[in-house]
Amino acid sequence: MRKKVIAGNWKMNMLPDAAIRFIDELTPLVKNSENEVVLCVPYTDLFYSLLTAQNTNIKIGAQNMHWEESGAYTGEISGEMLKAIGVEYVIIGHSERRQYFAETDETVNKKIKSAFKYDLKPIVCVGETLEEREAGKAEEIITSQTEKALDGLTNEQVENTIIAYEPIWAIGTGKTATSEDANNAIKAIRNKISNIYGQMVAERVIIQYGGSVKASNAKELFTMSDIDGGLVGGASLKSKEFADIVNYNNS
Ligand code: PGA
Repeated sequence: MRKKVIAGNWKMNMLPDAAIRFIDELTPLVKNSENEVVLCVPYTDLFYSLLTAQNTNIKIGAQNMHWEESGAYTGEISGEMLKAIGVEYVIIGHSERRQYFAETDETVNKKIKSAFKYDLKPIVCVGETLEEREAGKAEEIITSQTEKALDGLTNEQVENTIIAYEPIWAIGTGKTATSEDANNAIKAIRNKISNIYGQMVAERVIIQYGGSVKASNAKELFTMSDIDGGLVGGASLKSKEFADIVNYNNS
């Protein structure tokens, strides 16, 4: 059985004092969860969040990293730097980074390889635009993004990659993919992985859904056969709502 991973993506939100308060509030609410609980926070919150989440079951992740270890890359943060302070997860290739910061399938692939070098768990985002979906190309786009992202990884690395299927039209819009559509898209991604890396690997890969996940739809989405939890944006900014999403299986 694959574990469910529920990851919050705070994006560019939360000052350190709010981050500390949030984690203090969340801790008792999720302490008995059998699901993996992750918060991907802005760089400026990482250290405070790691300290506050010490001795809890809340894991801390970053939202991006550079693929090089060090050097003349002003403003960038490397996997080695994240690892050094105790970060465990890193989001790679979020659609907002692809759209606004020139992230490509190639840079995504380099970043994933670098993340594994530093023992960070990558949460790799793939997803189609509304135009691509309406043109009937959603599956082709997301399976191609997946193939390019994972190119050159070992079977073991693929098994340890978390993929987040996030249809771009569902992010921050309040529009959620139906649970059937999301499950089918995720099945297509799993099939692609099975074709390249074999069924055993494909069965072990955690594939999340992301895009307007909230407490009211989490259960319906996360109980589908192939959806292994979610990447949650807006609804991860409120501790009670995020806790309800993490605890979807207790309601
Ligand atoms: P949303 O964002 O939950 O606010 O739609 C999801 C994401 O971008 O990861």
